[in-house]
Amino acid sequence: MTTTAKATARAGSNIAFIKYWGVADASLNLPLNNSISMTLGDLYTTTTVEWDPDGPLKADILHIDGAAAAGSKAERVSRHLDRVARLAGIDRPPARVASRNNFPMASGIASSASAFAALSVAAAAALGLHLDASALSALARKGSGSASRSLFGGYVEWERGCDDASSIAHPLQPADHWALIDLVAVVSTAEKTVSSASGHTLAHTSPLNTARIASLDRALDQVRSALATRNLAELGTTIEQDALAMHAVMMTSTPSLLYWQPATLAILQAVRRWRATEGLSVYFTIDAGPNGHLICEPAVATAVSSRLQQLDGVQAVLSSGPGAGATLIQEALF
Ligand code: PMV
Repeated sequence: MTTTAKATARAGSNIAFIKYWGVADASLNLPLNNSISMTLGDLYTTTTVEWDPDGPLKADILHIDGAAAAGSKAERVSRHLDRVARLAGIDRPPARVASRNNFPMASGIASSASAFAALSVAAAAALGLHLDASALSALARKGSGSASRSLFGGYVEWERGCDDASSIAHPLQPADHWALIDLVAVVSTAEKTVSSASGHTLAHTSPLNTARIASLDRALDQVRSALATRNLAELGTTIEQDALAMHAVMMTSTPSLLYWQPATLAILQAVRRWRATEGLSVYFTIDAGPNGHLICEPAVATAVSSRLQQLDGVQAVLSSGPGAGATLIQEALF
């Protein structure tokens, strides 16, 4: 490699309907269970990577949302660049990386899924390394498990697999199959005290973990079939149950993880009230944080959003439909 090579990619975040929680193999990031998500078209990360083999760089340089990043975030990115260079079979040159989210980092939206999907696509392309979508999914998984799903658009399943090559995502339904909306009720903008990466290693300490995992074959089938038939009541009932099961595992781990705030519970109760008393067809899920993700169809999204904004403790409401998978784009960040 004698000239500098640069590429830019964009990837949407995703919201899991059946959650990934718990690792079977921490070094390869193999999960305990399959998971299913919707790739978010309107909440995405753009990342430019430029490898610098003959240039002035002595070490990697990382900017996130315009600010220089160091510490554990930068180390995690550098470790991912190591993986890409290893796949290409080259000595690792330093790289300049800039990443920008179109949603506020402090909004509590998981940015690691979109970030590691975009980083994988851009870093491989900038090296001239041609990987198909499955190989990119396996690569992204090692940066952040949920990133394996953001390689693909629409509705996506990540197969737990049994080794590096088989633990990859694949599309279940395209984005235009069903125009669901994820309304994100932002409750806290604080960085979480326990990252999902360390939380995954605690799942097995909960006495409820085995029961949740044993229930998932059925839940996965229900979600696949609800997606295929666009059955929101079936989808919604199943995703609420799994979100609560995952949080029960978190709460009963050692040490215990309690991500909810009072406003989180207020959102869950409000969703059930709106369904029961107003017939609003809306269901919740919650990731490893206090924010509520409300899933509904476009016809009721405005009504749900305005009710959400009136709840105590809800600081903002973001909205996204399903979107495309990770892709290279022309517009570089530098
Ligand atoms: O990809 P990670 O390590 O940030 O884990 C994601 C964990 C959840 O968001 C809680 C669930 C999921 O499947 O996205």
